[in-house]
Amino acid sequence: MRKSALLLALTCLPLAALANEAQLLESSRQTALKLQQQLGGELQKQLAAGGPESAISVCRDKAPAIASELSRSTGWRVTRVSLKTRNTLLGTPDEWEQGALRILEKRLAEGAKPETLEFAQVVDEPSGKVYRYMRGLPVLPLCTTCHGAPDAIPGAVKARLATEYPHDKATGYAPGMLRGGISIKRPL
Ligand code: HEC
Repeated sequence: MRKSALLLALTCLPLAALANEAQLLESSRQTALKLQQQLGGELQKQLAAGGPESAISVCRDKAPAIASELSRSTGWRVTRVSLKTRNTLLGTPDEWEQGALRILEKRLAEGAKPETLEFAQVVDEPSGKVYRYMRGLPVLPLCTTCHGAPDAIPGAVKARLATEYPHDKATGYAPGMLRGGISIKRPL
């Protein structure tokens, strides 16, 4: 390799890597926001149209459906996770996700705005390198109908949650807290 070409390769490599990471971050962020916005919209619509009991199916069926639709269209794994789950089967975070959620919780405690919280990392896995992204899901006033303090949850909703989710840990939240996060994992 000529000396100038070598120099170019050496200086451009880190720059290219940085540009690539910025791109990975931005496209992950947009995908997470899509899930968050679609879900928020559906919840609001159903809460207004049919009341909180009927909106349970939005968080139960629509959220995983939108997430798997996004997974199929992007080829990445898109999920919702939480440190205090309602549905342990779908919502339990893996080790990286637990660490990422704790980092977001710490930043929130230090004064960061809940709607800005995100964390991303390139991780080495046995099957190869992956890009991992976590976006915080802040608790909005409308979430507390089903995730708020037990005495703030309407009786009919509480009764249905008790039958459908006997191991529910996802109550006791107030607006401004973090309910969990949207996790994205993409092969590199
Ligand atoms: C009408 C009731 C209802 C409302 C309102 C609601 N949720 Fe849920 N939420 C549920 C139910 C039911 C589940 C369990 C879904 C499942 O079975 O996968 C759930 C699960 C979740 C999960 C997945 C992790 C877990 O704990 O299983 C997250 C994250 C979540 N909700 C966030 C929110 C946020 C953020 C809001 C407000 C924007 C919200 N929810 C509003 C009923 C609700």
